[in-house]
Amino acid sequence: MRTVRSLKGVVVLVPALMAVSSAMAGDDDVPTVFTERGSIANTRHNLTQLAIEDPRPGTSAQMDPSRNNYGEVCVYCHTPHGANTRTSAPLWNRTQLDQTYQTYDELGTSTLTQTFTQPGVNSLTCLSCHDGVTAIDSIINMPGSGGYDKSAENQVIEVNHLNDWTNASGVTTGNHAALNESGCIACHTPDGLGATLFAAADNFTLFQIGTDLRNDHPVGVTFPLGNPTDFNTTNIVTNTRGDAFMDANGNSRMDKGEVRFYETGDGPEVECASCHDPHGVESAGAGSDFNPTFLRIANDGSQLCLTCHIK
Ligand code: HEC
Ligand code: HEC
Ligand code: HEC
Ligand code: HEC
Ligand code: HEC
Repeated sequence: MRTVRSLKGVVVLVPALMAVSSAMAGDDDVPTVFTERGSIANTRHNLTQLAIEDPRPGTSAQMDPSRNNYGEVCVYCHTPHGANTRTSAPLWNRTQLDQTYQTYDELGTSTLTQTFTQPGVNSLTCLSCHDGVTAIDSIINMPGSGGYDKSAENQVIEVNHLNDWTNASGVTTGNHAALNESGCIACHTPDGLGATLFAAADNFTLFQIGTDLRNDHPVGVTFPLGNPTDFNTTNIVTNTRGDAFMDANGNSRMDKGEVRFYETGDGPEVECASCHDPHGVESAGAGSDFNPTFLRIANDGSQLCLTCHIK
């Protein structure tokens, strides 16, 4: 090991001879140190920033002053016990804020035909980080004993609770950064601080979806099952819960590589997780690179768009 001084003056240990590779999973992706293969642990959604494969020395240490480093991959989103019961997301460990979003229909295009609602659960999960409001480390049940606060379920960010956690890395942080300009994006931007002090930090501005969804593909919108002229309505299977999916391989299972529509009370709807799987989806079977940007179907040649739209 050799010792180097990182940009923040924090001393980090760097294993000698470690290859610093520029693992890029797909041409469409913002380049990343993660291999984007095999597991969510090797993707950007590993918020410990400790890649199992091909770790870039010092990356996690750069992040530790900005968020609790829980040292576990799943815990930023799930917990086996004491999960959030305010939401019907699977074993959900994140705080869930009552937030109103500006929806795509408020833009007022003349072409929309479907019913819009506020984003459903299968979008709110993503937005709990990507709207830039809630801190990345804002969870209700921390690893180990003691770090549990049921009353935090409904909070934007319960700082006292988050400060209970002793960072595994030894860095004590009162900073609980969100994906916004004063949080992660303070460094992860081509402008300002990012350009001067932290030029190495990748640009994450695109990842901040925000609370204004007027410039994003519609979510919380029903899929036009009755319009086979403009939409692909063949091969759609509906399960007992009312969720629908495009059963491309005919196995009657909602596979991760198939787009899906979530029943939220108004009929099967497009949500963020219709197009994305936050854990990554193999592009060509077991062991292959994941599709870029956590997509269920890679969008080469607009393949994803053409799964739903007949154009
Ligand atoms: C103080 C500045 C700073 C802040 C704040 C910051 N980062 Fe970073 N981050 C960096 C730097 C510098 C690097 C580049 C280090 C490297 O590439 O090894 C980096 C690297 C990363 C990487 C690895 C790049 C990649 O995709 O391969 C991820 C992921 C990341 N940061 C996420 C975050 C998240 C999430 C937050 C907010 C909780 C955050 N960062 C806040 C400075 C910062
Ligand atoms: C960045 C957030 C995030 C992380 C980290 C994460 N998940 Fe998930 N997970 C989700 C979301 C969101 C869903 C719901 C997807 C949907 O709406 O269909 C989900 C669903 C699941 C499901 C049920 C549905 C499915 O897709 O199979 C399982 C099982 C699961 N996650 C396991 C894990 C495990 C194990 C880990 C850690 C290795 C993990 N997840 C890490 C966000 C995450
Ligand atoms: C626990 C917080 C969290 C949750 C929940 C979460 N994300 Fe992310 N996601 C991030 C952060 C932070 C980044 C920026 C890169 C990084 O720091 O790892 C990111 C990056 C991404 C990227 C860019 C990946 C790339 O390489 O270009 C996509 C796409 C994405 N998320 C989609 C989703 C979707 C869709 C969901 C819900 C199914 C979701 N995320 C849930 C925190 C989260
Ligand atoms: C209809 C399909 C679809 C839906 C629904 C969808 N996305 Fe995406 N998303 C995409 C595609 C395709 C890309 C890749 C764009 C590219 O490569 O330029 C993408 C890219 C992203 C990125 C990376 C940044 C970027 O602009 O490339 C993030 C973050 C993201 N999506 C989050 C979300 C969140 C959060 C939601 C729900 C609010 C959502 N997505 C809903 C298709 C979708
Ligand atoms: C999972 C299915 C699905 C996928 C995948 C999908 N869309 Fe859509 N899209 C919809 C639905 C549903 C609507 C709402 C239709 C309506 O209200 O008439 C919509 C609406 C639109 C609209 C119309 C917006 C308006 O103002 O009238 C455009 C343009 C569009 N999508 C483009 C795309 C593009 C580009 C992609 C690929 C990046 C894509 N869609 C992927 C289902 C999908």
